Amino acid sequence: MSPIHGYVFDAYGTLFDVHSVVEAGRAITDDPATLSATWRQKQLEYTWLRALMGIYADFWAVTESALRHTIRRLGLTATEAQVRRLMEAYLSLACFPEVKAALERLAGRPRAVLSNGAPSMLAAAVASSGLAPHLEYVISVDRVKTYKPSPLVYALGPQTLGIAAGELLFVSSNAWDVAGAKAFGYRVAWCNRTSAPEEELGVHLDVVVPTLDLLPR
Ligand code: LAC
Repeated sequence: MSPIHGYVFDAYGTLFDVHSVVEAGRAITDDPATLSATWRQKQLEYTWLRALMGIYADFWAVTESALRHTIRRLGLTATEAQVRRLMEAYLSLACFPEVKAALERLAGRPRAVLSNGAPSMLAAAVASSGLAPHLEYVISVDRVKTYKPSPLVYALGPQTLGIAAGELLFVSSNAWDVAGAKAFGYRVAWCNRTSAPEEELGVHLDVVVPTLDLLPR
């Protein structure tokens, strides 16, 4: 592999464990894992739909809409206070256990987050997880008002770091996100945390790792 000059990380599911909202979900359901998984899937669907329709709303709004839809779809009820508590769980997500050491290991080259998250959500998650000292850049799609996998979003990485996409390693646990980054021109690493099958998008992945501490330097 030719040298990598910088790292661009997805946030949710890659650095931050979105299923850490499961605990908050217990207040409204006996099956918080299904609530969390359905909420996450609907959140992503809304980003894709809004990007295609050209009707951007930020990720906080999208996440709340997805939660309200999920509550109805699963036949649950929640008070406004419970909805607020679930949303607030998004501001203090746990990061996966290896993340801090993995980022430290890559120090010396710029390390960035490039995420769908609204700037305030990313700032809160980075602060609460203690990752701020290990990240040179936190970039939100909010700058271009659309969502992954739009090339407008992936272009923010090379623009911000001043490094060509082909010299950056884009890292995501979301296989569709890795495919989008590869289609844009990054080198990509798929952090396959759940031993999921590869996407059938005809996109070649450069690296597959089970956890972030195994990324190439
Ligand atoms: C993000 C979503 C894709 O952080 O997880 O951009």
